[in-house]
Amino acid sequence: DTRDPTSLRTPIVAVLGHVDHGKTSLLDKIRGSAVIEGEAGAITQHIGATAVPLDVISEIAGELVDPDDFDLPGLLFIDTPGHHSFTTLRSRGGALADIAILVVDVNDGFQPQTLEALDILKRSQTPFIVAANKIDTVPGWNPNEDSPINATYDAQSDRVRQTLDTSLYEIIGNLSDEGLSADLYWRVQNFQRNIGVVPVSAMTGEGVPDLLAVMMGLSQRYMKEEMEIDVAGPGVGTVLEVKEEKGFGTTIDTVLYDGTIRADDELVVGGMNEPIVTDVRAILQPRPLAEIRTENRFEKVDSVSAAAGVKVAAPDLADAMAGAPVRVVRNRDRQEVIGEVEAELADIAVDTADNGVVVKADTLGSLEAMADALEEAEVPIVRAEVGDIAPRDISVASTADEHKERTILGFNVDVLSDAEQRAEIDDVRLFTDDVIYQVIDEYETFVEEMER
Ligand code: GTP
Ligand code: MG
Repeated sequence: DTRDPTSLRTPIVAVLGHVDHGKTSLLDKIRGSAVIEGEAGAITQHIGATAVPLDVISEIAGELVDPDDFDLPGLLFIDTPGHHSFTTLRSRGGALADIAILVVDVNDGFQPQTLEALDILKRSQTPFIVAANKIDTVPGWNPNEDSPINATYDAQSDRVRQTLDTSLYEIIGNLSDEGLSADLYWRVQNFQRNIGVVPVSAMTGEGVPDLLAVMMGLSQRYMKEEMEIDVAGPGVGTVLEVKEEKGFGTTIDTVLYDGTIRADDELVVGGMNEPIVTDVRAILQPRPLAEIRTENRFEKVDSVSAAAGVKVAAPDLADAMAGAPVRVVRNRDRQEVIGEVEAELADIAVDTADNGVVVKADTLGSLEAMADALEEAEVPIVRAEVGDIAPRDISVASTADEHKERTILGFNVDVLSDAEQRAEIDDVRLFTDDVIYQVIDEYETFVEEMER
């Protein structure tokens, strides 16, 4: 790494929103444009994360971004599946994402997962903007490839403009219903107080220059101090996903937000039962963008510095949890680092009661979100864990005295087949969905019907 010992890291941008509203397409557009600009080698697609350097951003954004105005190195985008919105978002000390883009389909407007993502953003106090996507689908739209929004807006008929305005104000109204003051981004003076709405099309690239310009401006203006890190220091990150990788066993896809991780480092990783202490076996990076579409091969690297997405192979990772902290030990007291990881995990821990429902979720972040939502609904929890619904969860639920507590609420998890059988035998009800509100709605309906 040729950067200064203390330098500014890339801000991490989470892209959130309802299923099919165009998160991945938007990133594809940015990546695609970058490739077209002849920068294929300069842009890296990491694990679910795409690093776009400043010079590439300024190529795409044209006169909207003058690289001389910025000293942040670029933006690291994290794509999230619609039903996974917050998996990637949570880490101790605030959100893993420094900033976020909430993607909303202009035709579809606010949907359950839009609200869910919004809740998380509010709770974690992550600054964000709204990308009002798919403007090219407004009937009669006259597309202007990759144009900034004002130019393409001027090129539309009055009727088209009116239709778009109506949709945009509906989105602004929805945000207002959620207690957030928002406006079209060019009218926003203070992005900390007001949410900017940027009309875009992931298909035609219209508005994408504006989106990048706003994200860069926001980061530079409000995030600069937080981006100052000790690049060479011991790495700190969050587990995005735990995955089996052929030839490497269990690996963790990790977003590194501070320091460096090296191939000879010792690591402490948050585990199901206790922190896992292990030695890095390999640091794996997907090949640059041009290849990743056709093959899924990784390149072993000696070290990676923040901010970056990277796959880490190490022994004993089977119990690692998505959303858990990862810390490099290097030259420090191992016990102290274990303590840090324990403290982070304790911070996320859910308060449980003597009686209540069993909760399962796919990541620590989603478990926390479920617990918060249940607390709001005044539903006590007897046990909350990350992982699929297993027979032992049925055992726990089956000991409840009250019928309404012989239940398991699962978010984004599978039901293991032997658990399903056990549940039937033990008369335990399972409620699972990939929208939190849905799980809780279903459960509440069940309780109401039972109490009638
Ligand atoms: P999940 O990852 O499943 O949550 O969806 P997503 O938000 O990543 O949506 P994705 O990018 O996969 O897009 C969903 C569909 O919408 C695809 O068929 C896209 O081609 C289409 N789409 C996305 N953006 C646009 C747009 O700006 N205009 C038009 N016309 N279609 C779009
Ligand atoms: Mg997607």
